[in-house]
Amino acid sequence: MNGHTDILAIETSCDETAAAVVRDGHEVLSNIIFSQIDMHTIYGGVVPELASRAHIEKINPVIEEALRTAGMTLQDVDAVAVTYGPGLVGALLVGVAEAKAVAFAAGKPLIGVNHIEGHISANYIEHPELKPPYLGLVVSGGHTHLVIAEDWNKFRILGRTVDDAAGEAFDKVARAVGLGYPGGPKMDKAAKGGDPNAIHFTKAKVNGSEYDFSFSGLKSACLNYINTERMAGREINIPDFAASFENSVVGVLVEHTIRAAKEHGMKDIALAGGVAANSELRRQLAEACEANGFHFYVPSPIFCTDNAAMIGAAAYHEFKCGTRSGWNLNAVPDLKLGERAS
Ligand code: KG4
Ligand code: ZN
Repeated sequence: MNGHTDILAIETSCDETAAAVVRDGHEVLSNIIFSQIDMHTIYGGVVPELASRAHIEKINPVIEEALRTAGMTLQDVDAVAVTYGPGLVGALLVGVAEAKAVAFAAGKPLIGVNHIEGHISANYIEHPELKPPYLGLVVSGGHTHLVIAEDWNKFRILGRTVDDAAGEAFDKVARAVGLGYPGGPKMDKAAKGGDPNAIHFTKAKVNGSEYDFSFSGLKSACLNYINTERMAGREINIPDFAASFENSVVGVLVEHTIRAAKEHGMKDIALAGGVAANSELRRQLAEACEANGFHFYVPSPIFCTDNAAMIGAAAYHEFKCGTRSGWNLNAVPDLKLGERAS
């Protein structure tokens, strides 16, 4: 005890084995990430069985390094936090079992954290002034959510994707055009030299909630374009293609976000998730926020893609709200935002 609240956080929901020590919900004392990307690249995507095995191999050294970098031992932390969903069940289980063992052995409280809440909370790390209520846009490989953070651990979902997540669309389209895995960062880079208006991909509209998203139509349009060009023997201009696709995705994300902020009287807008690392999305949303008088928040790219510091930030607020998990905490692969483990 040092007057601070120091939380050891663990994240293993997909293909990053990560551990961090976070002080008072925003000061990152360590943030260790072992990425398995190289291992999955040859398969063109994450192989769940390989991910679980790699988590088992790496989890202990990653935690030890997180504690060592923070200059702490397990006895010095106030709680142990872990992502328990959503994600790949076999991957989540490694982190959950480890966190339970570590917390039990050290006599520390255990806090199960929702991965999506973690992504949103990444904003508190560099912007401790951000407080609910605010509007959040979470865009990652598995999720596309437009939410109102009504309180620290209370969220109202305004819209979500009805098919592919934004990151999934980036990955699938990048793969189809030959950019490889993971596609998001590669499309981002390729788009820099391209003309966003070179190819007109229509923006998907969804029947249903006015804030919902749909990316499968755009994905099909991209695949059709690739096939048509290849059949005609024409070479695809990758920068133009990437910039046009990106512009279509970013356009609909920004449009829904700004409209939701206006209609719900939100002044602060926080972007999060792996796709929040996208430079064009950051640029266009920042510009739209400025034009409409909203405060725009976004984490540094390292806190956008999967990491454990964001789990530590979310856990701090859960801890303050009184959340404690039992030793029966289990992985919940389809955990919804705002849902609690029983
Ligand atoms: O949050 P994250 O690390 O994992 C999930 O929770 O899904 O997000 C990974 C996703 C991948 O689809 C990846 O292609 C995408 O985020 N991504 C990007 C960029 N960096 C990562 N998409 C577009 N532009 C980027 N710079
Ligand atoms: Zn994630």
